[in-house]
Amino acid sequence: MKRLVVVLALVLAAALGPATAPAPARAQLRRDHQAPPGPRPHSVTITEFGAVGDGRTLNTVPFQNAVFYVRSFADKGGAQLYVPRGRWLTGSFNLTSHLTLYLEEGAVIVGAKDSSQWLIVEPLPSYGQGLDLPGPRHQSLISGYNLTDVVITGNNGVIDGQGLVWWQWLRSHELNHSRPNLLEFLYSEDIVISNLTFLNSPAWSIHPVYCSNVKVHNVTIKTSLDAPLTDGIVPDSCSNLCIEDSTISVSHEAISLKSGWDRYGISFGRPTSDIRISRVDLLSSSGAALAFGSEMSGGISDIHVNHLRIHDSSKGPPEEVLVGIAEELLGVLVEEGEPEAEAQECPNHRPSSFEKDGQMFYGDCEHCLYPASGND
Ligand SMILES: *[C@@H]1O[C@H](CO)[C@@H](O)[C@H](O)[C@H]1NC(C)=O
Ligand SMILES: *[C@@H]1O[C@H](CO)[C@@H](O)[C@H](O)[C@H]1NC(C)=O
Ligand SMILES: *[C@@H]1O[C@H](CO)[C@@H](O)[C@H](O)[C@H]1NC(C)=O
Ligand SMILES: *[C@@H]1O[C@H](CO)[C@@H](O)[C@H](O)[C@H]1NC(C)=O
Ligand SMILES: *[C@@H]1O[C@H](CO)[C@@H](O)[C@H](O)[C@H]1NC(C)=O
Repeated sequence: MKRLVVVLALVLAAALGPATAPAPARAQLRRDHQAPPGPRPHSVTITEFGAVGDGRTLNTVPFQNAVFYVRSFADKGGAQLYVPRGRWLTGSFNLTSHLTLYLEEGAVIVGAKDSSQWLIVEPLPSYGQGLDLPGPRHQSLISGYNLTDVVITGNNGVIDGQGLVWWQWLRSHELNHSRPNLLEFLYSEDIVISNLTFLNSPAWSIHPVYCSNVKVHNVTIKTSLDAPLTDGIVPDSCSNLCIEDSTISVSHEAISLKSGWDRYGISFGRPTSDIRISRVDLLSSSGAALAFGSEMSGGISDIHVNHLRIHDSSKGPPEEVLVGIAEELLGVLVEEGEPEAEAQECPNHRPSSFEKDGQMFYGDCEHCLYPASGND
């Protein structure tokens, strides 16, 4: 897969003050996500299924059994799966509907370093192949297929992919299948991901694909800054998704909006639309902080962004803002790794939205997103 990432420097006003007059577009977007469901009427703890949180015992079967058990509460308001303090080593497992996965403070779900613990699944239909290699790919550590009403939250518990081994395998061409992600939802709706830290994903950290009504709130995502191509959150052929109050520091794109690759993405034909990103701190060592594509063959529209803080890992103060965007959207091209970040005053009379090929793109009125040069 050609991973040409064209990075465009857009300029945000240096001062990130509070917004005053709401943009018309914003008012129309005030439509809130469904409130997260209250506490579940039932709760089980992972230790009831034989899990041991010593960082060495493999808990794949306990996680699979616990999720299977929770399925019996589907028509009774669902259940919470509680993960107490400890290091819970596991291979990949699936979630179920009407589940709250709650990670207590000090609870760490740790991905096994043995690649055979990460199952092999078919490539996504809108890609036709894996991220790194053709053919099937490793399944994410935690996956949700065709689910509704799932909450993954906690008291700042951690999901750690131990990605280092995968990065080494990728670099030394020892991978047999594409790297897995940490958390992936497919064909799902009403998903809340909050109050957690995601560390060292082998590839991407949070990947909702073919989903709607997804809320990512108050998460911290980190991977080593010299890892190969680790993205933070990748909304992919999703609609009605928001990312708020989160901090992402990764080697590649911090947030990357996608909708499938080439003819696979075109024939699958599911765009990414109605995405809101607010109050996020982004750092990328070799990609863009916020990227539109690559892999956006299903289309991207109605993206609303405000209160971005973009940290440049190599230079510059955090106020300096760079937004990556695929070349075809705006036609302004900056070499990857050398973004032109000319800070520019934000003149309020300039429009906060622009149209391209019949699709609207918005910047926050107060924090206008403008190309650094050309295309005025
Ligand atoms: C998860 O569900 C998918 C779709 O049903 C299946 O292909 C995969 O094998 C399941 N993975 C695990 C670990 O059970
Ligand atoms: C999930 O839904 C999609 C689209 O409706 C379908 O193609 C797929 O077979 C379903 N997968 C599972 C595991 O139920
Ligand atoms: C964010 O999550 C942490 C725990 O992970 C919690 O202590 C904090 O209150 C949360 N903040 C908000 C704004 O929800
Ligand atoms: C790839 O397959 C070979 C041969 O089966 C195996 O020895 C090796 O461990 C596999 N590599 C990974 C990263 O799983
Ligand atoms: C996240 O934490 C905040 C602050 O403690 C709390 O208000 C919110 O309900 C939590 N989110 C979820 C989904 O539990």
